Amino acid sequence: MINATATQGLRNQTDLTEFILLGINDVPELQIFFFSVFLLIYTVTISGNLLIVVLIACDQHLHTPMYFFLGNLSCLETFYSTTILPRMITAFLTGDRTIPIWGCFLQYYFFGSLVGSECYLLAAMSYDRFLAICKPLHYSVLMNNTLCVQLIMTSCFSCFLLNSITTYLMSRLSFCGPHTLDHFFCDFTPVIMLACEDTRRMELMAFSLSSLIALVPFLLTLISYSFIISTILRIPSTTGRQKAFSTCSSHLTVVTVFYGTLVIVYMIPKNDTLKELNKVFSVFYTVLTPIVNPIVYCLRNRDVKEALNKLTSQLCNFFRDAWILS
Ligand SMILES: *[C@@H]1O[C@H](CO)[C@@H](O)[C@H](O)[C@H]1NC(C)=O
Repeated sequence: MINATATQGLRNQTDLTEFILLGINDVPELQIFFFSVFLLIYTVTISGNLLIVVLIACDQHLHTPMYFFLGNLSCLETFYSTTILPRMITAFLTGDRTIPIWGCFLQYYFFGSLVGSECYLLAAMSYDRFLAICKPLHYSVLMNNTLCVQLIMTSCFSCFLLNSITTYLMSRLSFCGPHTLDHFFCDFTPVIMLACEDTRRMELMAFSLSSLIALVPFLLTLISYSFIISTILRIPSTTGRQKAFSTCSSHLTVVTVFYGTLVIVYMIPKNDTLKELNKVFSVFYTVLTPIVNPIVYCLRNRDVKEALNKLTSQLCNFFRDAWILS
């Protein structure tokens, strides 16, 4: 371990102002390929999520708590992928891998807070499904608009608050040595690995905060779904069971993909052989989760599909009329 005065000396000598993000891959021939793939993913993510927001805003049938949550989740995922993908895509194109240190902290702040908000929002959505399936008679009284707004506001506010503590602690660290992150965005572990001081206390603190951010909503979701599934299994008729299950299957898919990849990334040990694998799974949950939500809902959810058909035919009529009139 380096002692305090040595650290001080180093810090004064080389005050780092930027990091280098190595990214996914540095084979020059593949940069254009990666650029195109991720640009396509980003475009689909943004347009898919905006489509869901527009559908929910335009269609009266979708003005229910379940779809308000979905609309807010889609907004969140638009921001979420915007904290990571544009920077990554431009790096493929320009080859410029540097990021100012403040930019790195900012990216971690928004990314971490939005992931946390997503966890809480998914938990709120499963609570909504729990009430709809296990307490159908009281659903409309229990899940009213006020509760809906409160759940959404509390999720976002508490996550942004908690993550500002972690980000503050991170920004107080001194970075003096190597400044290369073997990752494609500023995640917690790769950044604090570069700090030239003892980070054990900081890690412990951050671990407790991230448990609050991710573990609590995960357990809440798990509890809601165990009630939901045991209720569904007790429905005597097959059609009744299918109908009840179809109201939560899309959400269950999204939850499984999100937590599945999250658990893999943060649970597998970070040794050298597994590091590449870790990066691959990081791509899954940062890049693919936001795209799964619109795809699942547009292809599988009956109400969203109907709203989509209605919107398409309205647009067709509109353009036909405009064409006839002109
Ligand atoms: C988010 O939730 C609020 C409160 O329920 C709702 O009024 C709003 O329309 C939702 N936003 C979107 C984009 O669906």
